Amino acid sequence: MKIKTSKIAIIGCGLVGSSTAFSLVTQGICDEILMIDINEERALGEVMDLRDTIKYLDRNVKVRTASYKDCGDADIIVITAGAPPQKGQTRLDTLEVSAKIVKTIVDPIMASGFDGIFIVVSNPVDIMAHYVHHLSGLPKNQVIGTGSALDTSRLQNFIAELVNVDPRSIYAYSMGEHGDSQMVPWSTVTVAGKPFQDIIQDNKDMLGDVDLDEIVKKTVREGWEIYQRKGTTYYGIATTCAGIIKAILYDENRIIPVSTLLEGEYGQEGVYAGVPTILNRTGAADILEIHMTKEELEKFKSSAEIIKEYTDKILKEI
Ligand code: 2OP
Repeated sequence: MKIKTSKIAIIGCGLVGSSTAFSLVTQGICDEILMIDINEERALGEVMDLRDTIKYLDRNVKVRTASYKDCGDADIIVITAGAPPQKGQTRLDTLEVSAKIVKTIVDPIMASGFDGIFIVVSNPVDIMAHYVHHLSGLPKNQVIGTGSALDTSRLQNFIAELVNVDPRSIYAYSMGEHGDSQMVPWSTVTVAGKPFQDIIQDNKDMLGDVDLDEIVKKTVREGWEIYQRKGTTYYGIATTCAGIIKAILYDENRIIPVSTLLEGEYGQEGVYAGVPTILNRTGAADILEIHMTKEELEKFKSSAEIIKEYTDKILKEI
């Protein structure tokens, strides 16, 4: 009897990649992790450090250094390598540099015979996910960007703070670009099933006038607010990535707003954007197309158009 073990490769052993590995190890989500980086000493240092955690954890997740040729039988490959934005830059400004890095990664991985699922973290993530889909030739369900899953976590935190409930009781999505043009379909937001707009109406004395646009602006700014204080972000994106991996490895049919290829949903065609997506062992299995108001659809369309504009730039250059 052959017991199938789960193997995850993490490309890029910087703070995001190593934190993703740490999250996977401490949660015991997979059986084996390959740590791959152009700086092999860095990769080895992360492996050595991660191994020191096993004694005090519930599972003995095997962690080792590897190279692209070892990726052929990996179930999932996480791409975190990319160019961080410099002061005053947006994630979109790192497009050219990140694309060059991603290309040097995808080509040798595909040469290894890899036929699993890519999870792209590298920013600008929507465009990088589309680029990996193009370079790899894998079907869209096998190439996923972390998308607006992290923004959604931040949004739910802000709403939870406002109404003083657990963020996990908030059902809200940030959608579109993982960036400045993301939008929130407020008509679909609920607190444990009660429409958020009813909550505002019923609690005017406690909540006063709630500025929904300000909550969106805070969500958009959060990554930068953290970046300014600690130089980058990693725990949030790493644990978001681990949650996506769990949904896939455990065949959960969990709905997470990852970046996936739209083929007509929300009136958009041929663009990767953060939308509620059903994740299971096939990857991005299906899109849950939520009903938005006309105004919300317009905001989503604007965001998708910005992603498309930058995606066309990079696909044209191939
Ligand atoms: C963030 O928003 C890294 O883009 C990521 O934190």
